[in-house]
Amino acid sequence: MAMTPDFDSTFYSAFPSRFVWGVASAAYQIEGAAQEDGRGPSIWDTFSHTPGKVLGNATGDVACDHYHRYPEDIALMKSLGLKHYRLSFSWPRLFPDGQGRLNQKGVDFYDRLIEALLAQDIAPFVTLYHWDLPAALQERGGWTNRDTAYRFEEYAAVVFAHFKERIKGYITHNEPWCAAFLGHMNGEHAPGLHDQAAMLDAGHHLLLSHGLAVNEYRRQNLTGQIGVTLNLTPVYAASDSVQDKTAAARQDVFSNTWFLDPVLRGTYPDKFAAVFGSYPQAMREGDLAIISEPTDFLGVNFYSYAVVAHEEGVGMLNLRHVTPQDRVTDMGWPVSAPTLTDLLVRLTKDYGPLPLYVTENGAAYADQLKPDGVCDEERIQYLRDHFLAMADALRQGVDLRGYYLWTLLDNFEWAYGYSKRFGIVHVDYETQKRTPKDSALWYASMLNTFQTVTTV
Ligand code: FCB
Repeated sequence: MAMTPDFDSTFYSAFPSRFVWGVASAAYQIEGAAQEDGRGPSIWDTFSHTPGKVLGNATGDVACDHYHRYPEDIALMKSLGLKHYRLSFSWPRLFPDGQGRLNQKGVDFYDRLIEALLAQDIAPFVTLYHWDLPAALQERGGWTNRDTAYRFEEYAAVVFAHFKERIKGYITHNEPWCAAFLGHMNGEHAPGLHDQAAMLDAGHHLLLSHGLAVNEYRRQNLTGQIGVTLNLTPVYAASDSVQDKTAAARQDVFSNTWFLDPVLRGTYPDKFAAVFGSYPQAMREGDLAIISEPTDFLGVNFYSYAVVAHEEGVGMLNLRHVTPQDRVTDMGWPVSAPTLTDLLVRLTKDYGPLPLYVTENGAAYADQLKPDGVCDEERIQYLRDHFLAMADALRQGVDLRGYYLWTLLDNFEWAYGYSKRFGIVHVDYETQKRTPKDSALWYASMLNTFQTVTTV
């Protein structure tokens, strides 16, 4: 496949000239230096060091060693023409105990990192929580404890006050659905629990902490933007039958409106108790008003879609997934880019007008490093299709402001360890050598054309 994108001019003209094109990452997946310079342990350190939790018992101890190699990684971004970078801060690097004592060396690291980005004209978009809760807070119940929401508010307040206008965009949480469900119910993620009440309470406290942080951001009168990132999955019924349609509605509550409605409407979805059996026990009067404090945008992480059929007694939701498997990524995630258009249009219709960012999108494939680089045609095809899907959404009036590709570097893919490669840059974990894949060159070429076309 050609490394020069074959988009025509109607593609480029669908995007506003200020459209943001970037890449996304997360602290635990790339930083390494897990025990350096006073960083405290997070629940992902505990979890990955528990045998059997992560494939190959891999950990993020070293990861991509970005903590030491960030100058090289920023130079790489610069060479690809990237001007926007979504990264996350490690809460336990800043607050080793989750509260109280601020670790100056952690602050110094993020100061160096942010300054280095700004010096290269790369705008940082910072996620405050990408799943690495300080282990000390987990010892007190983690997200099932309401107090954690207030500790998060304090952490956010310190970050806002310190970085001020150097950081113009914040995401409070990355995918609270994953933290709640994968972390507290199906156990695939830290802290690895299997407890439905804990899942609902954790979800509620994650939402509450989001709202508290947004309120704090407003109090500090900062001029940038703040929002939350949700992983959203468009759901389709397998047939027109009433049963399948109601099954799809249940799946939609579970996958989407559980978090969308509290943030954007100040209420849990109507069918919440029907789907989960109850509202979160943790809910207190006034919480939903805090949670729904208006944000500046919604971040959407998009990877896949679901087709479901009603089936009594199957799983928590009485349904079966029948999503076509003819095109799947190395994660086994079905690919259908037009469903991204559907999702963006639906968000605008149901919750809009609403500025949106795609804050993650990308694909894992079993890339092979050859002497002449990495030929990752399937990833290019995946990206191309999703870019066209965004252009379609824009033409339908969606206020889409940007796109952050997941991800720059191959990295620690949570429960899958280092076995899944999502990067547009290949990482050799033995030598830490970075090699841009064809998709990186393709993306760089698209960015370059985009800039030329939109500045004339
Ligand atoms: C998302 C996570 C991100 C990465 C991608 C593949 O759910 O936010 O850290 O693992 O999936």
